[in-house]
Amino acid sequence: MNVFITRKIPQSAIDLLVNEGFDVSVYGKENAASKSILMKQTKEADGIITLLNDRIDAELISNMTRCRVIANYAVGYNNIDIEAADKKKIIVTNTPDVLTESTADLAVALLLACSRRILEGHSIVINGKFTGWKPELLLGVELKNKYAGIIGAGRIGNATAKRLKAFGCKILYFNRSRNHVLEDETGAKKVNLDSLLQKSDFVSLHVPLNSQTKLLLNKEKLSLLKSSAIVINTARGEIVDESALIQMLKEKKLFAAGFDVYTNEPAVNKKLLKLKNVVLLPHLGSATVEARGEMALLAAKNVINVLKGRKALTPVGS
Ligand code: GLV
Ligand code: GLV
Repeated sequence: MNVFITRKIPQSAIDLLVNEGFDVSVYGKENAASKSILMKQTKEADGIITLLNDRIDAELISNMTRCRVIANYAVGYNNIDIEAADKKKIIVTNTPDVLTESTADLAVALLLACSRRILEGHSIVINGKFTGWKPELLLGVELKNKYAGIIGAGRIGNATAKRLKAFGCKILYFNRSRNHVLEDETGAKKVNLDSLLQKSDFVSLHVPLNSQTKLLLNKEKLSLLKSSAIVINTARGEIVDESALIQMLKEKKLFAAGFDVYTNEPAVNKKLLKLKNVVLLPHLGSATVEARGEMALLAAKNVINVLKGRKALTPVGS
């Protein structure tokens, strides 16, 4: 049986598949495979490992003749047409848990970079403009005693909340259901979205992208934020009205924002590049040696299990 991987992933996962007797082919180019390459390569594959920027749409899925499993190398799976896969009885899996801590670390890193103006400071030093200690140079804000609003209290939202609790933040969260573990561990309070936005000093997004969360923070919702607020997005760009957010940052209606994801990724809105009160990263949430290694192994194990007639370890939605 053959397995197609749409990009080079950590070798241990490829070795595992080979050791289990699969023929593995990897699209080894630097950039994402084009639609026509994907059409060709996935047509006769028994299993596929995909990246979050491969669009696995209905057309591609209907072209597959043998596929039984699509293992997304990501926790988010908005890039895959789940309904089309279901219709063909193709199992779709993702990589939850193994990237939770890394992504939460990055959300906090972005928050601290914004709250303490790390990039503005860095640019003063590297541009030779550090002329001595000054009483009011680049004043930021402390995390202690501030309200941190967590939108989406799943695994990553929880892990982020725990970290922020340790910094002394008071945790508010917005989620469909109550999260008793989060409440017990951090004293978090469940609130509706409007109050979260009105009260929070820091807002961090941790919902998956789907039809209910697309533009969850639209212009009207964003306008509820305090002008001292900081917004962090390590989830998906499309959850926020990016143009409205940029306009607010430009008009100083927000203190700052940290972006790891963008609406038209990998294209980045040019207006963002002109702002000083932003920290911009190239989608690095899970980019640690630990998380990426574990994600690769988990994706491989999902493929192996399904193709050997066992249960997938982490089918989507589990
Ligand atoms: C990253 O964005 C992921 O969904 O894993
Ligand atoms: C992702 O794993 C989440 O549930 O936050």
